[in-house]
Amino acid sequence: MKILITGGAGFIGSHVVRRFVLNYPHYQIYNLDALTYAGNLENIVDIEEQPNYTFVKGDITDAAFIDSLFETEQFNGVVHLAAESHVDRSIKDPLAFVKTNVIGTMNLLNAAKSIWNGDYEGKRFYHVSTDEVYGALGAEGLFTETTSYDPNSPYSASKASSDHFVRAYGETYGLPYVITNCSNNYGPNHFPEKLIPLFLNNIIQNKPLPVYGDGNYTRDWLYVIDHARAIDLVFHKGKHAETYNIGGFNEWKNIDLVKLLCAQMDQKLGRPEGDSEQLITYVKDRPGHDLRYAIDATKIKNELGWEPSVTFEEGLQQTIDWYFDNPEWLANVTSGAYQEYYTKQYEE
Ligand code: NAD
Ligand code: TYD
Repeated sequence: MKILITGGAGFIGSHVVRRFVLNYPHYQIYNLDALTYAGNLENIVDIEEQPNYTFVKGDITDAAFIDSLFETEQFNGVVHLAAESHVDRSIKDPLAFVKTNVIGTMNLLNAAKSIWNGDYEGKRFYHVSTDEVYGALGAEGLFTETTSYDPNSPYSASKASSDHFVRAYGETYGLPYVITNCSNNYGPNHFPEKLIPLFLNNIIQNKPLPVYGDGNYTRDWLYVIDHARAIDLVFHKGKHAETYNIGGFNEWKNIDLVKLLCAQMDQKLGRPEGDSEQLITYVKDRPGHDLRYAIDATKIKNELGWEPSVTFEEGLQQTIDWYFDNPEWLANVTSGAYQEYYTKQYEE
């Protein structure tokens, strides 16, 4: 097997690349990543010398480059994670999300279709997507694989569009695909623009914790290593032309999650109980803010036997420990362009 993983220098992709490289020494794993602000080779420095691993720096929006890479390497499998992934950035620059998430995905689909040329034996195009394509839930209910798409942010609209194209290539050209829609991930290597690592970093620095709106928005959180386990399982055992929802069975209101994070951080930092909570600051809401996401992950549980392996409290503690063990990682990613982003998003 020669497998192309896209976005493998990013948060989730790095955990997927590590898992595939170490678990399948007989596979050749190619990690294609443009190294945008979110991509960081430090995330996978521990596996870069493995004999079955190759890093390729390149942009999925460059069709000629993608065609020639597929032509030269003749991949049998694709696990596609490369994307612009942050909702707040999508509100400021939606077109960047169309380019990478829609056109980039199209380029990969076209290249796979062209080299496989109807010979689909042993081939698989795995598209990694999000639960945000389903839109917002009210207080009740869960997203299942048959919930209608109803995206509300430019990010989720671009991911929904890419999901539709993957499915359309399956229907129209017979391209063997599988799609997963996962809930919010957290864990090591998470870029500190997303809620948990941003707040963790701000607590260390005694900076305000900017809670959007009233803080009563709900997300379903999954430890990133459990997502990587699910991707491995679906890549190998998932049925062609199927969608699987992946979630943590783990809903938290933002404000409750932030209070738990503050409590665990106070303990870690040796601060008095309740100290970090004082940093909570309610700020202007995100436009189009989805009230609640929650996944029904019964299908992947029943069909493939997947379940999360850690509780949220355990996963959050492991995450905090990782950031404390890797202060230089955090210092590197929060220098330079990050400061500019932070000022624009939170201080202007
Ligand atoms: P991330 O932003 O941390 O990483 C994205 C990676 O893609 C980076 O390494 C970046 O350099 C690379 N990339 C971006 N544009 C590229 C381009 N044009 N060409 C090549 N590489 C490019 O994202 P993440 O949180 O790891 O998410 C990975 C995937 O999982 C995305 O498709 C996302 O939609 C999906 N997903 C994320 C979550 C989550 O909670 N983070 C949940 C469900 C699904
Ligand atoms: P985020 O980590 O950006 O993930 P997503 O928007 O994809 O769910 O945000 C998680 C939740 O936290 C979401 O309801 C928005 C909220 N949030 C804040 O309240 N303040 C912040 O500074 C950020 C980044 C997010």
